[in-house]
Amino acid sequence: MSKVADLLNQQLPYGPAPEDIKASEEWLAKHNRSFGNYINGEWVKSSQTFASINPADATELAQIAQSSTEEINQAVEAAETALPIWQAQTSQKRAEYLYAIARQIQKHARLFAVLETLDNGKPIRETRDIDIPLVSRHFYYHAGFAKILDHEFPRYQPIGVCGQIIPWNFPLLMMAWKIAPALAAGNTVILKPAEFTSLTALLFAEICQNIGLPKGVVNIITGDGEVGKGIVDHPGIQKIAFTGSTEVGRIIRRATANTDKKLSLELGGKSPFIVFDDADLDSTVEGLVDAIWFNQGQVCCAGSRLLVQESVAEKLFAKIRLRMATLRVGNPLDKAVDLGAIVDRSQLERITTLVNQGVEEGAEKYQAPCDLPADGFYFPPTLLTNVEPASTVAQEEIFGPVLVAMTFRTPAEAVQLANNTPYGLAGSIWTQNLDIAHDIAAQVKAGAIWINCTNQFDASAGFGGYRESGFGREGGREGMLEYLKPILPKLKSTPTESIPKPQTLDRTHKLYIGGKQSRPDGGYSFEAHGHEFALANRKDLRNAVESAATAQPAWEKTTAFLKSQILYYLAENLQAAEDQFLNAGVSEKEFQDSIELLFHYAAYADKYDGQVHQAPLRALVYTRNEALGVCASFAPQAQPLLGLLAVTAPLIAMGNAVVVIPSATNPLPAVELMRIIEASDVPAGVINILTAPHSDLEKPVADHLGIDAVWHFSRIDGAQTIQSLSSGNLKQTWCVTDPIDFTKPHPEFLRRATQVKNIWTPYGA
Ligand code: NAI
Repeated sequence: MSKVADLLNQQLPYGPAPEDIKASEEWLAKHNRSFGNYINGEWVKSSQTFASINPADATELAQIAQSSTEEINQAVEAAETALPIWQAQTSQKRAEYLYAIARQIQKHARLFAVLETLDNGKPIRETRDIDIPLVSRHFYYHAGFAKILDHEFPRYQPIGVCGQIIPWNFPLLMMAWKIAPALAAGNTVILKPAEFTSLTALLFAEICQNIGLPKGVVNIITGDGEVGKGIVDHPGIQKIAFTGSTEVGRIIRRATANTDKKLSLELGGKSPFIVFDDADLDSTVEGLVDAIWFNQGQVCCAGSRLLVQESVAEKLFAKIRLRMATLRVGNPLDKAVDLGAIVDRSQLERITTLVNQGVEEGAEKYQAPCDLPADGFYFPPTLLTNVEPASTVAQEEIFGPVLVAMTFRTPAEAVQLANNTPYGLAGSIWTQNLDIAHDIAAQVKAGAIWINCTNQFDASAGFGGYRESGFGREGGREGMLEYLKPILPKLKSTPTESIPKPQTLDRTHKLYIGGKQSRPDGGYSFEAHGHEFALANRKDLRNAVESAATAQPAWEKTTAFLKSQILYYLAENLQAAEDQFLNAGVSEKEFQDSIELLFHYAAYADKYDGQVHQAPLRALVYTRNEALGVCASFAPQAQPLLGLLAVTAPLIAMGNAVVVIPSATNPLPAVELMRIIEASDVPAGVINILTAPHSDLEKPVADHLGIDAVWHFSRIDGAQTIQSLSSGNLKQTWCVTDPIDFTKPHPEFLRRATQVKNIWTPYGA
């Protein structure tokens, strides 16, 4: 008999174990249960307020400011004024401030934990043992980065004023994830907590005041989505960091498209929890408790889709049902409660509707008998079995304590099911077989993979999504880079270019798709420098993307060593064809620079390594710098060979497949390059070349859902098209409109060519 069944039989009684709320009550009373905004180091009353509710019993906790446009402007102004003051501090001083914040959070940990539980409804055990310790860890870790910023990021600079918008599921933790790296990198911030949960951010503001943080470095303004919109649209803000729903993420992507604002989005998920038949099923069940019943399942990376190997499915379901019967739902301030309240009535209704819909679509619902408190917003732990992969509950984020189960037979089927949603935030893999674990970890499209564990977080390991779960990372080096901008080497003078020589042979230029030169679909051409070039259209783009998508998985799996050899070989073949390129309008210098650039990325193909992190637990936490997938690159118009290679070589060196649109003012070197690629060992489909005026292909590229990332080093208008239309599949975009000196390769190129996956494997004999 299992330990759990043993415990059940013993019928251990629980007495009430309520946490003391005196300190929180005193703090609320000190503020007369009414809060203004924290702007420029002072409390500013707002004319409009709304109620913040305790979801555990639906009582009002306090009145919170609904900020006006005027107040948003004030906060931005304060952050702008504080920027030079903050940046003038020494790195030692900035580190000391962050360290002081970390210490104060530790000192007031109990107050923070209780207040968070009151405001959000999550169990005190979680706020006390998980949220608050992680918050202080985050400030400690980033105090370190503040100190060593110049050593670690020599070719980067702070961005400026950052607008940060956070959700209600981890109010203080999300705030720490955003404020700590922003300040460490030398920025100032305006942060808006979610309307359901503003209180701990306001308590945090008081800490900033108490430690004497320079005024205006941190500004906290409260209110609903309209206030969030006001921050997103404000021209005085240079960076937006958002965590929340994919729907709002898309709106923000579109709203920031025609601006210079840097953006990071951490959005929804539907993370797979994959159980193989050799897994330790008792540990797996405890893992599931942490995966889906932690924080009532209101976790963006919750293991909400259980994928279990068919042979052990019934056995595992039985164990889960047994364990569900022991979960205690109730007053979140009770130290022996496992699940507290859902954050708000609207969320409770949303969960209820989705579960009913699941049942209507054929799912079998199991809820262990449990008494829910009469007041407040509670939903019992729920297991849905017999679920079809395409059904609503298998695809949509429920954001509640609802586990949706499906079965698979083979590892390949597990991967296919795991990747069968548009999301890609996290994944959990349970098996005793190391080979399977790491093989599957590499194949699941997600930013965090937990092997035989789940919901592990640390400041040293970046967290964030693939695909429609967003882009950007929080935590680690990769998280710091979201709050810095590269100092790209600008081109000092216009490079000399000669006019391509007239052709001796009457050649009809072609496109290069899937390893072959092919005629354009429409049969049209366009003219540049007296030459006719094939005019690629939407259909040619579709074909090129299809070829790239077919070639990319195998190319990514190719060893880094082989990728590097192929790039060296490409350089060698290019070198042998110097005359053709000089005739095609490439200067001798540009030609030599192009060879060197290929050598640079050939060298890096097997040297852009990941890291092993020092997370404070017995686990191997390592980074894989993974390819993005299929990328489209618009090359700069000048330097037709060097520019083309600069936006292609780093991408393919990192395992992506590329559709490149060369300079339209002189596509001749690109046409010459087709022949060199053909003669090198680049697999068919890894590089595809489409000649056309850039304006013809910008919209089709941005619209194409099969393209994962776009680099655009061309016209400003085009950059705007790319950014605003790419919100469809939230593809990553990198638009650079200034002419860049490609002879000094910047590390940003490799960073932009990859996405970080962190893999956690705990150990212990
Ligand atoms: P939401 O995405 O609407 O809210 C998140 C934050 O964005 C809040 O601070 C909100 O005030 C702000 N916001 C709302 N509209 C905005 C706009 N147009 N511009 C700028 N800021 C805006 O999420 P909500 O409504 O609280 O929850 C709805 C669903 O979203 C949940 O059921 C869940 O599925 C998902 N969600 C996902 C989260 C995650 O961590 N991935 C967190 C919270 C919600």
